[in-house]
Amino acid sequence: MITVGIETSCDDTSIAILDGEERLRANVVSSQVEHEAFGGVVPELASRAHVTNVLPVFRHALAMAGLGPESIDLIGVTHAPGLIGSLLVGGAFAQGVALALERPLVPVHHLEAHVVANLLDHPDLELPAVALIVSGGHTLLVHIPAWKRYVVVGRTRDDAAGEAFDKVAKLLGLGFPGGPEVERRARGGDPRAIPFPRPMLDRGDLDFSFSGLKTAVLQWVEGHDSRTVERHLPDLCASFQAAVVEVLAEKTARAAGRLEVPTVLLAGGVACNDVLRAEVLGRASGRRVLWPRPSLCTDNGAMIARTAVLHQEEAVSPGGFDVRASLALG
Ligand code: KG4
Ligand code: ZN
Repeated sequence: MITVGIETSCDDTSIAILDGEERLRANVVSSQVEHEAFGGVVPELASRAHVTNVLPVFRHALAMAGLGPESIDLIGVTHAPGLIGSLLVGGAFAQGVALALERPLVPVHHLEAHVVANLLDHPDLELPAVALIVSGGHTLLVHIPAWKRYVVVGRTRDDAAGEAFDKVAKLLGLGFPGGPEVERRARGGDPRAIPFPRPMLDRGDLDFSFSGLKTAVLQWVEGHDSRTVERHLPDLCASFQAAVVEVLAEKTARAAGRLEVPTVLLAGGVACNDVLRAEVLGRASGRRVLWPRPSLCTDNGAMIARTAVLHQEEAVSPGGFDVRASLALG
């Protein structure tokens, strides 16, 4: 079975071709550079760029897979959550493909897909699991007793972890997206140099809060002259990253312990972060900790295709398809 996965929920236009459940024949990602000058995603620019990119990306993916459109058996597309204009472009494109080829169309939840991306690299993964979903728009801890069953046990009360990385990168004058930039600079710094707070770490619940941490970085920057800030940039990045990572890893470990699961899954763009992976592993008490390769952590069509396969019995008619800016997981 050949499945096409279409992802346009934010600022990446991505289309993948999946053969069966595991064989990824193409995973094309077109990242929009339009937003760099703004230090964040501009919704209208994103929608317009998807309109321009979606057809070339589709053709490129088919060419890479060496297939024609008639080979497609199943179409999966992100329908929620995300930027509404961006979702509409991918959704309308998928409707058109489904109509023209008379193939089933599966609406995919973007956050479920981030978790399911783990199946592409670890098809033997054992449930139940706890998943830490950390992206630019979301930070969630999810209990997964079985596939298609998701119980949110913790969430951020304000900024997402990736959003905190992006905002700190912006205030330090680093590039966008900020996560990889902060991680790169942090490599030369001392994570104990500046004692930033560990928000919500002492509370018994599994929730997070990152906006205060971003403010703490801002206050430190405002309290020092620009040469000092420049000199301490690696320490600043390492200390901020250490604070975010400690809270994420510790609450993930607590969730896994309370729910007595054998497996911990990392998902979403921030799961690319090596320090986060190491810290979660270090606190996992022997549990299996898994994450997808980096290209399957950030937004991609492959995770949408794999999730469509999981939900292939739940296809809708192209006329019955709709998109949602927000939709709870589970
Ligand atoms: O999952 P994703 O591609 O898009 C959303 O669904 O939001 O995640 C993007 C986020 C951005 O905030 C980016 O800064 C962050 O993931 N990110 C990282 C790293 N790579 C990407 N954060 C920390 N460390 C990284 N290495
Ligand atoms: Zn995402």
